[in-house]
Amino acid sequence: MEISGARVLVVGATGVLGGLTARALVERGARVALAGRSPVRLSALAQDLGGVPARTFEACDLDQCSALGPWAGRALSGLEGVLVTVGAAGFGAVEEVSNAVAGHLLTVNALCPMAVLRGAAPVVADKGFLLAVTGGMTTPWTRTDHWTPYVPGTADYTAAKAALSGWLGVLSEELVPRSVAVLDIRSPHLDTGFAERPVTGSPPPLPPGADALEAALSLMESIAAA
Ligand SMILES: NC(=O)c1ccc[n+]([C@@H]2O[C@H](COP(=O)([O-])OP(=O)(O)OC[C@H]3O[C@@H](n4cnc5c(N)ncnc54)[C@H](OP(=O)(O)O)[C@@H]3O)[C@@H](O)[C@H]2O)c1
Repeated sequence: MEISGARVLVVGATGVLGGLTARALVERGARVALAGRSPVRLSALAQDLGGVPARTFEACDLDQCSALGPWAGRALSGLEGVLVTVGAAGFGAVEEVSNAVAGHLLTVNALCPMAVLRGAAPVVADKGFLLAVTGGMTTPWTRTDHWTPYVPGTADYTAAKAALSGWLGVLSEELVPRSVAVLDIRSPHLDTGFAERPVTGSPPPLPPGADALEAALSLMESIAAA
């Protein structure tokens, strides 16, 4: 789709990938609306990008998440695309992670993006796009006897991203009649410091992350090709 002139909501704009992508969108001529958790950082970014519309939200308030698309549609007088870059890392062996923390990881990494896109789907224009970032905590991890993509200590994060991925696949089929592209960006490990800000536990040894700016530019190419 043509990025120049597109009206795009970025949810998670105060994060590293979200912020880089919002800036890249503006540089390519898109009109953006921003949503983020921190009012101070959100307001600073919105001013930096030319006084664009901005709204705060909390990922655990799913009704707030679903209201973001309709808000952006009003603020921009239309909406061609939505990107969700919200996420939270959390680590620990399965038996060590509390149900409360597991619920939080599932909510932030899966239910929040789903709620945002559920609310945005009726608002986004035909031939527009809906995008969320998935990707697991893959290192790759090698045991002595076999290779596996599953890294011990990441079950709840991995499960949440897998749930989101499946949900996006079904949404993609549902929106075929309107030619709305549903993009599941399966990101590799990035150098954003994401794994160093876990809600619980400590990260396993990870290789150096891929360049976040390159990831944002590659995400833009996915949108342009949609
Ligand atoms: N970095 C990686 O290695 C990697 C790999 C695969 C996938 N991903 C995914 O890529 C996306 C972007 O991550 P990133 O690397 O840019 O990390 P990041 O800078 O930590 O961004 C995560 C974003 O999620 C927001 N968030 C977390 N909990 C929230 C809550 N309860 N309510 C509202 N917002 C909340 C953060 O808000 P604040 O700004 O307020 O903290 C931040 O904007 C995430 O979906 C992540 O899961 C990252």
